[in-house]
Amino acid sequence: MIQKKKLIEVALPLEAINKACAREKSIRHGHPSTLHLWWARRPLAAARAVIFAQMVDDPSAYVDTLRADPKLKRRAETALKARLKLWEEARELAARAKGTNLAVPEPGPQPTMDEMLADIERQRLFRIIEDLVLWENTTNETVLQAARDEIWASWRRACAENADHPRATELFDRKKLPAFHDPFAGGGALPLAAQRLGLESYASDLNPVAVLINKAMIEIPPRFAGKPPVNPEARKEKSLIAREWKGAQGLAEDVRYYGQWMRDEAEKRIGHLYPKVEVTAEMAKARPDLKPYVGRKLTVIAWLWARTVKSPNPAFAKVDVPLASTFMLSTKAGKEAYVEPVIENGGYRFTVKVGKPKDEEGAKGGTKFARGSNFRCLMSGAPIASDYVKTEGNAGRIGARLMAIVAEGDRGRVYLAPTLEHETAAANASPHWLPEGETPSRLTGGGAQANRYGLKTWASIFSPRQLVALTTFADLVKEARERAKGHALDAGLPDAGTQLRDGGTGAAAYGDAVGAYLSFALSKQADLGNSLCAWEPIAQCPRHLFSRQALPIIWDYAEGNPLGDSSGAWTVFLDGIVKAFSKAFEFVAPTALGISRQADAGTQIVSLDKIVSTDPPYYDNIPYADLADFFYVWLRRALKPVFPDLFATLAVPKAEELVALAYRHTDGKAGAEAFFLEGMTHAMHRLVEQAHPAFPVTIYYAFKQSESQSDAGTASTGWETFLDAVIRAGFAISGTWPMRTENSSRMIGQGTNALASSIILVCRPREASAPTATRREFVTALKAELPLALAHLQRGNIAPVDLAQAAIGPGIEVYTRYARVLDAEGKPLSVREALALINQTLDEALAEQEGDFDPDSRWALTWFEQSGFAEGEYGVAEQLSKSKNTSVAGMVEAGILESKRGKVRLLKPDELPDDWDPMTDTRLTSWETVHQLIRVLEAGGEGAAAKIILKLGAKAEVARELCYRLYTLCERKKRAAEALSYNGLVQSWPEITRLARESESVNATITESQTTMYGQE
Ligand SMILES: C[S@@+](CC[C@H](N)C(=O)[O-])C[C@H]1O[C@@H](n2cnc3c(N)ncnc32)[C@H](O)[C@@H]1O
Repeated sequence: MIQKKKLIEVALPLEAINKACAREKSIRHGHPSTLHLWWARRPLAAARAVIFAQMVDDPSAYVDTLRADPKLKRRAETALKARLKLWEEARELAARAKGTNLAVPEPGPQPTMDEMLADIERQRLFRIIEDLVLWENTTNETVLQAARDEIWASWRRACAENADHPRATELFDRKKLPAFHDPFAGGGALPLAAQRLGLESYASDLNPVAVLINKAMIEIPPRFAGKPPVNPEARKEKSLIAREWKGAQGLAEDVRYYGQWMRDEAEKRIGHLYPKVEVTAEMAKARPDLKPYVGRKLTVIAWLWARTVKSPNPAFAKVDVPLASTFMLSTKAGKEAYVEPVIENGGYRFTVKVGKPKDEEGAKGGTKFARGSNFRCLMSGAPIASDYVKTEGNAGRIGARLMAIVAEGDRGRVYLAPTLEHETAAANASPHWLPEGETPSRLTGGGAQANRYGLKTWASIFSPRQLVALTTFADLVKEARERAKGHALDAGLPDAGTQLRDGGTGAAAYGDAVGAYLSFALSKQADLGNSLCAWEPIAQCPRHLFSRQALPIIWDYAEGNPLGDSSGAWTVFLDGIVKAFSKAFEFVAPTALGISRQADAGTQIVSLDKIVSTDPPYYDNIPYADLADFFYVWLRRALKPVFPDLFATLAVPKAEELVALAYRHTDGKAGAEAFFLEGMTHAMHRLVEQAHPAFPVTIYYAFKQSESQSDAGTASTGWETFLDAVIRAGFAISGTWPMRTENSSRMIGQGTNALASSIILVCRPREASAPTATRREFVTALKAELPLALAHLQRGNIAPVDLAQAAIGPGIEVYTRYARVLDAEGKPLSVREALALINQTLDEALAEQEGDFDPDSRWALTWFEQSGFAEGEYGVAEQLSKSKNTSVAGMVEAGILESKRGKVRLLKPDELPDDWDPMTDTRLTSWETVHQLIRVLEAGGEGAAAKIILKLGAKAEVARELCYRLYTLCERKKRAAEALSYNGLVQSWPEITRLARESESVNATITESQTTMYGQE
């Protein structure tokens, strides 16, 4: 088979992708991910860029075609001329420097016309990606179509080249793109991105909740695309039916209608449990702020409860004392409100006050005594130790007491003391059904897990009234489905009888589809309607449970009003879903086939002949199945008749889940690691065997914070075990691209090691004929190839923060090129050992680049490594200068060093002279160039820096190399602020060189040559 390199195997516009990913994280409204919660979702931006770049050819694969384009050829000729001039200049410089002390970089191989053509074309593809990743363009058909056209162009080339392939008919049909598959589909970002890029999309996951989410993302919308709503209200309005219903808008409109119907029905059935609160004259006596409300009934936003235990003090043994982590209800400036308990008649009651409490610290601390679950008895002040709370909890003796009521006022929240009516209303709720199953006894998410305090069943984390509400809504999903089916029949949809699960598109399937989306509102109701939801005193609303992947105990919880219209209300959830749904699926076409099904990645057969991009679980990071049970038990009640197979089991399957959780194995950590390695190897092997041979497989691996690089290099069991599995399965790795979804400057700014939040591995099945190598051969190959790869990445302007990780790719590529690498004793070299050798060679290559710098800069680099910009002894500095072939006086003259009273220190960028001109500097150093550029960039922006670059010519490139070196050094030394400056300069480089080119300066040749050199056209 003729296999061409894909773009992702050569280059990626990482910066643009990373920026878009970070931005996408802040999108709250209208993002398809808001349909249903899932843990650790990939951004759509990354998903789109990766799938696109794995499908389009790298331009080096079709230079012949490029050569035939006269316009392109002319541009390439100009670029080549400029590049050659620069190359000649560098060659001359290197030749002159030979035999002297001057260290000048080798110019590398002579640039060629083909390289120029490919470079220019690559930039064009990069621009498509840069458009594609923008959030604004997620449903922009023009942008998406441009990407699809490019995918098709590459595909037609592949079909033409492989017309003689023995399986050409199945594999290379020039009229049909291969389908896409993600075997660990989770929240569905990758399958959705593939579908939007014009591919038939398949999603599979072990977890039924994930399968359902993917159905909602890729399977259902196209099936009912373009159809008007069926509900009688919409059908009465002729104009509504006649208007154009794009994508899934009609379906979304029905979800809104039946969701509202459910809410109204729920009001009839359980409204009595959610009374309004009447403000009486009595209440206003102590609270003049309530006067305007006297006689009015206000809608409740939330009831705030404190859990209670019997006082451990024998004198108050009968009193259920509150475990309140705070008494502050609102800390919003000017709107403060708080609870003040009043002790009387051997017991206590809660009153609510407005304004700042006199004892602010006391109010903030509630009845907390110390950190953790330690409290004090409200009646006696006696300590309530966390062990006592645990014992009481496990004996089922933890209760709850109403602490305050939050109601909707005319201009904001009104906080009221509990009333008997409201305590009774809650107490009257008696659920007739309880969700089955137990909460996980262990979770990896941290915090004090609710399970340890006796909340051991799924039912126990809801109050009785919350259980009644959820059961009512779950049952109403079933009724709404039936109604929608009936109305769909009235509207003329065929009664094909085939249900959604069997591929139906008639009335019954339509009802099922409506039910599926309504059940997502049920999930949201569960997430924001349980007793582990805290009250948010600044935003003044309940906080949903899963802000992280854990079930932490909450001592004072907020019970939102499902029948109200604030946070926690059914209508709010419904509105969110309808908005996200109709906007995100506005342009879905009925032809965009999508299939979601349950499958174990270790045995699945869905990937056959498909393009695969996937995002497997990250070692021990998230126990998806344990967490997903929370939603499963409710979804099951609502949707079992719709998807009987998906909801056949009482809980989400766990045994096959590919996570390394020690608590699931009798032999703990070791068992978990072995299970993960073996299972992941099987899963990866399915991909080696099945994936379409014309495309590399792309695999995400996300780091945990704890897996960051340390001074000693990357040490991470998860990453190594994962790589090991991928390689054992038979993959060779041709790239490792770091992707950041967090804002890197923020991370560096916080002083943490900036790390990629995920790595994309680009894999191809390893050749059956792959040779075995000795350790020595492996190291020789690394030494020969890594410096070039490093230079290539730097030329592509990779951000210094990403360099180390991206450079692992070429190293692993060398390692996986061999069937095995054997050490001196004939034992295969482990992934851990190979990684160590790769890192070592990379360090050497970076250090070798040091040879490229002038003596002053080399001295400064070593000095900076030890002392940064701090003062040091003159004697030491002078001694060091000898070994670097320079002198302290010389460096003072060069303008980079201050030497006074026996001390020396490097000058900081803002201490450098602002009238500096590289053209007239008689002792020009790379060190000063870098720091002057930083100064100028920070003070005058890219335009000002461009003026300097223009004057520097080929020397600018050496300065950029120094910048990489300095970044690596600062990162190791945890010098966050400086690292940020060096990273920032490199990241601004393309823009600076672009501006340099545009500037009216005379030196057009230098500008042109630099811009091509730095990857801009
Ligand atoms: C990292 S998540 C995928 C997230 C997804 N890319 C997104 O953007 O939402 C990994 C997924 O692997 C699934 N999984 C774990 N073990 C599996 C197995 N044996 N077979 C199939 N899926 C599995 C989990 O249920 C989880 O949804």
